[in-house]
Amino acid sequence: MVNTKVTLSGLTLDNPIIPASGTFGFGYEFADLYDINILGSISCKGTTKEPRFGNPTPRIAECTNGLINSVGLQNPGIDKVIGEELPKLAEHYKKPIIANISGFSVDEYAYTCEKIDSQKQVGIIEVNISCPNVHNGGMSFGTNANSAFEVTKAVKAVTTKPVYIKLSPNVTDIAEIAKACEAAGADGISLINTLMGMRIDLKTRKPVIANKMGGFSGPAIFPVAVRMVYQVYEAVKIPIIGMGGVSSARDVIEIMLAGAAAVQVGAANLVDPYACKNIIEELPEVMEKFGINSLEEIIGGSH
Ligand code: SIN
Repeated sequence: MVNTKVTLSGLTLDNPIIPASGTFGFGYEFADLYDINILGSISCKGTTKEPRFGNPTPRIAECTNGLINSVGLQNPGIDKVIGEELPKLAEHYKKPIIANISGFSVDEYAYTCEKIDSQKQVGIIEVNISCPNVHNGGMSFGTNANSAFEVTKAVKAVTTKPVYIKLSPNVTDIAEIAKACEAAGADGISLINTLMGMRIDLKTRKPVIANKMGGFSGPAIFPVAVRMVYQVYEAVKIPIIGMGGVSSARDVIEIMLAGAAAVQVGAANLVDPYACKNIIEELPEVMEKFGINSLEEIIGGSH
């Protein structure tokens, strides 16, 4: 019997599989499909201080082996998330969850993280400094080591739960940004968010997405994710949640060998709502095939 358990900042997960923020709602929406308690954890829909309607449509462009999204952090705002969404999730899911928080200023990140920190079911706060689809916020904090440091420091000052900073791949030196987050007190790093992409409609000769550009995700970006997890693993000592195009148990093992302690599955949920369930079910067999008794033993095993 293989051991799929992993530990993240003192939290033991039954397996490393976590649906990525923005691809799984607040989790309870999937409870009619299968018992979501099989999931290692759930990274909830990105939440901001104020409610957000999101970007104009079309917001999605299909691509070979992936898709581009420009959702624009649509969400009901922190008060409704705490008052309505998390209680609904708690009815169905009995394990610690990951709250994903975005903001438009350092103060706003701190305000929203402090509020979510008080929620009992929140095991980890994932701070998204890498959304490519909003102006004056999101990715602008994650493409500069100084601002990544400032956001991390401000959030750490007002929270008690482990704080993981979600990084953008749209940078020259991801290791430098990860190191700045670690120096500011981050408990872990999540990576990668989406790569900036664009499609143009041949008939209209205009961008497919109303916002012109968006974030590209899906199996096509998996090698980029593996490369960046590998680089960050060499640069920091804090744990990494790896993500970016993961769509099979083999991908899970590969990104863990690069250095991920747990793994988020994103775009695959949009193609198949059972993607996480299928990966969890196939994981033991694939572990056996590659002679892996315990997943914890393979983290960073390729270095
Ligand atoms: C979005 O809401 O636009 C996507 C979130 C993200 O990429 O961080």
